Amino acid sequence: MNLKGKIALITGGAKGIGAATARRLARAGAIVWAADVDDAGGRELEKALGAPHRYVHLDVTDEAAWGALVADMKALHGGIDIAFLNAGIMFRPRGAPALGDDLVELVTKDFNRYRQVMAINTDGVLLGALRCLPAMEGRAGAHIVVMSSDSGLRAHPWDLAYGMSKRALLSMLETFAPLYEKRGVTMTAICPAGVDSGISPADFKQRRIASGQDYASTDFAAAAVETMLQEGKPGEVWMARHQDHGFWVYPLPAVPAQVDAMPGKPKIFPYVPMQG
Ligand SMILES: NC(=O)c1ccc[n+]([C@@H]2O[C@H](COP(=O)([O-])OP(=O)(O)OC[C@H]3O[C@@H](n4cnc5c(N)ncnc54)[C@H](O)[C@@H]3O)[C@@H](O)[C@H]2O)c1
Repeated sequence: MNLKGKIALITGGAKGIGAATARRLARAGAIVWAADVDDAGGRELEKALGAPHRYVHLDVTDEAAWGALVADMKALHGGIDIAFLNAGIMFRPRGAPALGDDLVELVTKDFNRYRQVMAINTDGVLLGALRCLPAMEGRAGAHIVVMSSDSGLRAHPWDLAYGMSKRALLSMLETFAPLYEKRGVTMTAICPAGVDSGISPADFKQRRIASGQDYASTDFAAAAVETMLQEGKPGEVWMARHQDHGFWVYPLPAVPAQVDAMPGKPKIFPYVPMQG
């Protein structure tokens, strides 16, 4: 798809992967609306991109604010072509120390933070998908990219809430992609792993580097999104693990089995019907 003139909404667009994607889509000729709660970061990006691109304040958990934003975009541009539903947080705040803490204790003590992770990462994406659909139907090449994660594909023992929130999005994708396709909107998901955005607790990064794994750049994840918008098919999951590997594409629902490449057959126990 040629991105020139496309109307693109990016949530969590003020920094990190969202801002890197804003830069790429703007360069490709799209008109970008970067939405975030980080007004200072958003204004800086808006200045760097220049008109017609803009920053708008949006808390993705705020249903009424979603309605107002989509209405504004419809009024100004007639609709939305691209929605990158990217805003997200981890359980532990950016830069906080993490290693050695007890995850069960942590979640028990701060269940509100668990709710916040689910509200932003999962509910915020669902709300966006629901609210954007009517503004996207009937527009050529309309495409929603959902931000999941490698943590949505496999157990994420160092951040329960995060892993749960990202896995739920793949269930949403599996259900919605065929329904949205019937309404002319492609829905895909991206699953990055270890992108150097600063979202993780500081010592996650140190541990990752100490174990010989480096970080991918935010531009690498943004390049995956740009390529998905051109090549992605409904229901696909794009893994963006490391810049040396390019992007791996899997159809749902085969993702977990293919990713783990589990050898052998499943265990089978016989069913014995109840008698009498
Ligand atoms: N960095 C990684 O390694 C990695 C890997 C897989 C998935 N992801 C996902 O990528 C997405 C972007 O993360 P990032 O790595 O660029 O981190 P980031 O912290 O740099 O960016 C996240 C953005 O979301 C915004 N945000 C937070 N709460 C919000 C809300 N309620 N409403 C609107 N915006 C909100 C933040 O202000 C921030 O600008 C997240 O969903 C994250 O889970 C990141």
